[in-house]
Amino acid sequence: MKGLILSGGKGTRLYPITYTSAKQLVPVANKPVLFRVIEAIRDAGITDIGIVVGDTAEEIKRAVGQGERWGVKVTYIRQEAPLGLAHAVKISQDYLGDERFVMFLGDNVIQGGISELIRQFAESDWNSQIVLKQVQHPQQYGIAQLDDQGRIVRLIEKPKEPPSDLALVGIYMFDHHVFEAVNAIEPSWRGELEITDAIQWLVEHGYAVYPYIHRGWWIDTGKMEDLLEANSLVLDELEHVIAGYVDKDSQINGKVTIEKGAEIINSRIRGPVIIGEDSRIVKSYVGPFTSIYHHVLIEESEIEHSIVMENSQILGIPHRIEDSLIGRNVVIQRSPIKPRAYKLTLGDNSRVGIL
Ligand code: DAU
Repeated sequence: MKGLILSGGKGTRLYPITYTSAKQLVPVANKPVLFRVIEAIRDAGITDIGIVVGDTAEEIKRAVGQGERWGVKVTYIRQEAPLGLAHAVKISQDYLGDERFVMFLGDNVIQGGISELIRQFAESDWNSQIVLKQVQHPQQYGIAQLDDQGRIVRLIEKPKEPPSDLALVGIYMFDHHVFEAVNAIEPSWRGELEITDAIQWLVEHGYAVYPYIHRGWWIDTGKMEDLLEANSLVLDELEHVIAGYVDKDSQINGKVTIEKGAEIINSRIRGPVIIGEDSRIVKSYVGPFTSIYHHVLIEESEIEHSIVMENSQILGIPHRIEDSLIGRNVVIQRSPIKPRAYKLTLGDNSRVGIL
């Protein structure tokens, strides 16, 4: 089997972080979501992986390379515009050929990996297998309606009035018959070729499509709250290690990872927390469900339930920072000179909450 990861598209819901960079590279517990997807596919025994890329192709190629780090072979497939998940399958036909494949959305994080699913599909003669999960806001997803024997009756993309609360998780398995489907369907109201419509087409044309109900957690990290939730869930499950330096005046409680080269000086860290390589926490408090990526400096500040990306600095902030996603190379500090005033350099679509 081959793997196909979708990493094109525009991350409008994570603006401004994704204004200039790929949303699939935002780190969850200090590892980009896309790397987690590659590992899940590799751990299921698949080493031939195609990655569909769009405007952020260069950044993704820089981060992933040819896949040697994971022992996989990566082939990049360029999508000119984000014309839909089924469009991404269509343009990948030459790469996929007649092989069965798993398609994994590059912004999805799932508990427990996909090895079992892949094994089931690889051993079957099914044409497709989809993964479903009960959700609270079904309007935001592709939705499946099943009959009382658990067979698929209908699939609809983001319905206003959902017939069920079973969402399509961004993991799909297909054989080559999917190409008939993606070539037959028309763009939806949002102008995209929907994979949901392609699967509906397979069902209507008598192909064997099986649903698998996922019991663990699953997060589509498309929105900021979801990203923070994924971060919390992964942090809670990590095997924590302290490889960095903690001075005698610091206090570490609960599940805490301190990566190599990191330094904790006169600070309190309450897990679950991860502090990335070469980051420094000085006279500060880092509270539960926080991921600090590499080369970050936090001094005389407090932060909790947040993600701070690489090379950023938080210096002398008198109020606790919470529920925040802080991008790369950001500096948050008190104005050193009078008059006391907010001095802000914020990118387009930034959001700042001020007391
Ligand atoms: O996450 C699960 C949901 O994903 C499903 O329930 C929906 O049925 C499915 O349509 C999809 O919905 P989203 O609106 O969340 O998809 P999004 O546009 O966020 O794209 C998902 C990933 O695929 C993302 O990493 C970007 C990439 N992508 C997207 C499009 C539209 C591409 O590579 N090419 C594209 O043309």
